[in-house]
Amino acid sequence: MEYMKMFDNLSVPHPFPYQGSKRGIAQYILPHFPADVNCLIEPFCGASAISLSARVKGLTKKIILNDLNEPLMHLWEEILERPGDLVKQYEQLWHEQHPDKKEYFFKTREKFNSTHQPHHLLYLLARIVKGSVRYSSSGSFNQSADNRRSGMRPNTMRQNIFDVSSVLSGITSLSSVDFREVVKKAKKHDLVYMDPPYQGTSFTRDHRYLNGLTYDEFIDALKVMNQKDVSYIISYDGQTGKKYHGKPLPNSLSLKHLHIKAGRSSQATLLGNDDETIESLYLSPALVDRLGREKHSIPTVLPQKQQEIMFA
Ligand SMILES: C[S@@+](CC[C@H](N)C(=O)[O-])C[C@H]1O[C@@H](n2cnc3c(N)ncnc32)[C@H](O)[C@@H]1O
Repeated sequence: MEYMKMFDNLSVPHPFPYQGSKRGIAQYILPHFPADVNCLIEPFCGASAISLSARVKGLTKKIILNDLNEPLMHLWEEILERPGDLVKQYEQLWHEQHPDKKEYFFKTREKFNSTHQPHHLLYLLARIVKGSVRYSSSGSFNQSADNRRSGMRPNTMRQNIFDVSSVLSGITSLSSVDFREVVKKAKKHDLVYMDPPYQGTSFTRDHRYLNGLTYDEFIDALKVMNQKDVSYIISYDGQTGKKYHGKPLPNSLSLKHLHIKAGRSSQATLLGNDDETIESLYLSPALVDRLGREKHSIPTVLPQKQQEIMFA
C-alpha cells in the first residue's frame, strides 16, 4: 500500500480540464520510470499530467513539454512565466460571463479564433464539455460550452495555476513542433513519454485534436527511436468492453506491452459509451534494458483488480 501512496494523484495539481488527460492513471505509469531520469520529454503534452506527476514525485530533474497545438503552448508559457496575469484575466472573463454565459462563450470563442490569446483558451477549456477540444477542418476552435456550468471558479483556478507554475517553472522548456522534432533531443538518461491522439478519433476524419497523425508515420518514428536506443513509454488505444480501438503496435518494434484499467473516464466517454476502458502501455526495448540493469521491480502491491491486468 505504501508504494501506491507514493504514486497516487491526490497532491498533483492540474492546470485545466483536457480530454485524454492521463491524470487518473498516472499512478500506473510512473512505476515504469527508471531511477535516473535527467529530462522527461512529453511530445504530445496536452495538460501534461504525467510530467506534473513525475516532477511532484521527484522522478525527473528537467522537463520538455511540446504539443503541436500552438495556442495551447502559448497558454503553457503564460502558466510558467506570468501566472498572476493569466489568473487575473481569467477572473475577469469568468465574472463578465454572467448573466448570459452562453452568448459570452460564443463571443470569447470568436475572439480566440481571431487572436489566439492564452486567457481566452483557458476560459474555453474551463467551459467546454469534459475538456474535449475540437477544431474544424479549417483549424477554428468549434467545441460548444457546457451551459449547465460556469467553469472553474477563479479562486480554484488561481490555486491550480500557481501550484502548476511552481512545480514546473525553472526546470521546463516548451515548444510547439511535430513530435518527431522534439524526440530527437532525447539522450541516454532521458525518458520520452508519448500519448498520441487516439486512433479512434483523430487518426480518422474526426478532428477531435488539432492535426491528425497517421499510424504509419507514428510507427516509422518509433523505428528511428529504437535505432537510437531511446527510452520511451507510449500510452495507446486499448479496449472498451469487448471492442478494440486502433491497430496494435507491431511486434517488429519489440515493445513490452502492458495493460491499464482506465475506468470510464477518458476514452470510453470520448467514444460515447459506458464500458470500462483498458488502455495499452508500451515500453521501448532500451527502457526495458535500463530497468533490468537497475534491477527495477515493478511494484507488487497494486490494488487487486489492477494487479490482474498489469501483469497479464
Ligand atoms: C491524447 S492528447 C495528450 C493528453 C495528455 N497526455 C494529457 O495528460 O493531457 C494528444 C495531444 O497530441 C497533440 N498532437 C497531435 N498531433 C501531434 C503531433 N504530430 N505532434 C505533437 N503533438 C501532437 C494534440 O494537440 C493533443 O494535445
